[in-house]
Amino acid sequence: MKITASLLPAFLGSAMAASIPSTSGNHIKASSSCTFSGSTGFDLLNKGHSSCQEIVISDLQVPAGKTLSLDKLNPGTTVTFSGKTTFPYTSSGFAGPLLSISSSSKLTIRGLSSSVLYGSGEKYWDGLGQKGPIKKPKFFQVHNLEDSVIEGVTILNAPVQVMSINGCKNLTVTSFTLDNKAGDGDWKAGKGGRNTDAFDIGSSSNIVIDGAKVYNQDDCVAINSGTDITFRNGLCSGGHGLSIGSVGGRSDNTVKNVLFENSVIANSENGARIKTNYGTTGLVSNITYRNVKLQNITKYGIMVDQSYGSSSKNASPTNGVPITGFTLSNVTGNVLSSGTNIFINCGDGSCKQFEWNQVDVKGGKKSSKCLRVPSGAWC
Ligand SMILES: *[C@@H]1O[C@H](CO)[C@@H](O)[C@H](O)[C@H]1NC(C)=O
Ligand SMILES: *[C@@H]1O[C@H](CO)[C@@H](O)[C@H](O)[C@H]1NC(C)=O
Ligand SMILES: *[C@@H]1O[C@H](CO)[C@@H](O)[C@H](O)[C@H]1NC(C)=O
Ligand SMILES: *[C@@H]1O[C@H](CO)[C@@H](O)[C@H](O)[C@H]1NC(C)=O
Repeated sequence: MKITASLLPAFLGSAMAASIPSTSGNHIKASSSCTFSGSTGFDLLNKGHSSCQEIVISDLQVPAGKTLSLDKLNPGTTVTFSGKTTFPYTSSGFAGPLLSISSSSKLTIRGLSSSVLYGSGEKYWDGLGQKGPIKKPKFFQVHNLEDSVIEGVTILNAPVQVMSINGCKNLTVTSFTLDNKAGDGDWKAGKGGRNTDAFDIGSSSNIVIDGAKVYNQDDCVAINSGTDITFRNGLCSGGHGLSIGSVGGRSDNTVKNVLFENSVIANSENGARIKTNYGTTGLVSNITYRNVKLQNITKYGIMVDQSYGSSSKNASPTNGVPITGFTLSNVTGNVLSSGTNIFINCGDGSCKQFEWNQVDVKGGKKSSKCLRVPSGAWC
């Protein structure tokens, strides 16, 4: 039986644009498809979506300063973004997240082609990132999800950090786009986006990010902790490159089995980077960059720094977060002449099993400050 919206519970009302497969009395079974749209959809969504097995977010306008919260969805729920989902600016500041899809399993979260999640970043960008006078919202919280897929999601103009993946197991993110090109202003002149990391990953395992296109002003990927993480077929442009770290000093300080492959890092401060925090403990092990092309890197093509975050600028690196297993294979490309091709700054005995093959990074300066370069690597 196909029923009309008038048979539905009043609170869903016009939120139900899609047809409903079946009902029993006034109770909608978990097979329901529910559409939330326009300026009324947000309130309707917050009144209840627990009976929806398919959620369509269609041209939704989220009120300024609010989180679009899709937490604790029924396992197996599909969430589809269609059209433009708008998260407006608020001058009173907001820490976010703008969107949270957390604490569930077997979810499929997808963006239809030409759909976009618009974060109004251009109204927040002041070149100061998280340090500015107005609190800026982080975008997309993906915490404690298992066996889930995020596909085809496009984010436009994120105020600061974009996707936080934490406490997840077996999550695949495919064909993700972050378009923060408009934030490429000169931050020293008080303009542009800052701290706009695309993917921040912590305490997660079996994560695959495939086919991401990232245009931003901070890390393309930053992994603080986690195991079995793959980033492939990606493009990172305008930001700080593909990074491990900074590792150490948090509750989880192990990064293990990471693969970055078949990707391009263009017009970025760094290419491949591992940062461990000064005076902390932890472990970084089995990190591989394979078939990675660097283009116009401005600071460091390849860098390993075990003195990160020290208050004194010339602090010696420390060895509490050893890096055991750092493989580079077919990592090539250019650094601008103002930059440095390779920089290695290791603690005493804490860089081991470096295996570099077909590493050809040129155009920048040769560093004279490398410290304790392990065998298998060079500077
Ligand atoms: C990982 O998640 C996908 C998507 O739900 C699922 O098809 C697959 O079986 C999961 N893999 C494991 C090892 O559980
Ligand atoms: C090292 O990481 C790779 C993924 O890059 C994985 O395939 C391999 O099994 C790991 N090696 C060990 C010894 O765990
Ligand atoms: C090296 O990596 C590039 C991508 O940067 C790829 O096109 C090329 O096929 C790779 N070469 C080998 C021998 O795998
Ligand atoms: C790298 O810089 C050169 C010189 O400015 C420019 O011609 C080229 O297009 C740049 N490459 C990329 C990928 O932007």
